[in-house]
Amino acid sequence: MSNLSRLTAFVADVARIIETEPNEQTIVAKVAPKLRALVSEDDWLPDAYAVADDRAYQQHLLYADPLGRFSIVSFVWGPGQSTPIHDHRVWGLVGVVRGEEISVSYERQGDGSLRASPAVRLPKGTVAAVSPEIGDIHAISNGLSDGPSISIHVYGGNIGTIRRSVFDAQTGAAREFISGYSNEAVPNLWNGVETA
Ligand code: FE2
Repeated sequence: MSNLSRLTAFVADVARIIETEPNEQTIVAKVAPKLRALVSEDDWLPDAYAVADDRAYQQHLLYADPLGRFSIVSFVWGPGQSTPIHDHRVWGLVGVVRGEEISVSYERQGDGSLRASPAVRLPKGTVAAVSPEIGDIHAISNGLSDGPSISIHVYGGNIGTIRRSVFDAQTGAAREFISGYSNEAVPNLWNGVETA
């Protein structure tokens, strides 16, 4: 049995922060420690949201704010899987909850090409941020060769619906995409929960 109350408490924390903080930098600064606390345990993550797929990394939607202000997604990478180089267009936080991930950030050059920063290892418990203000282009891969890695992502919008870009590593050429989600239903977070 998973302990979903950790997730429901996190959803409420993020909603409260967004409700009271207009500034993106402050939102990210306040959500980051909440995400760090969430990913310090993994007993709350339902098994269905921790499933890898041999064909591609998975993006399981855990929660979408009804007003589209934020979304929470469980990303699952099987061995050898990685994202293309991509951007987000909104702020995002990545918290590694199982395994280890490798992140490479990219910066646009004057000629349109992309310059890669050295790869950063993100072990379990690490939280990293992206946004158009602080650097929005990266690629993430599984740091483990013998098992899945999972990270919980929080975005300042409904990320699965946002038109954004993937980039060619050689030329920097952009191609638009909308990621959607791997799962087709939003989980019922309140099943069996009693509220006043
Ligand atoms: Fe990303």
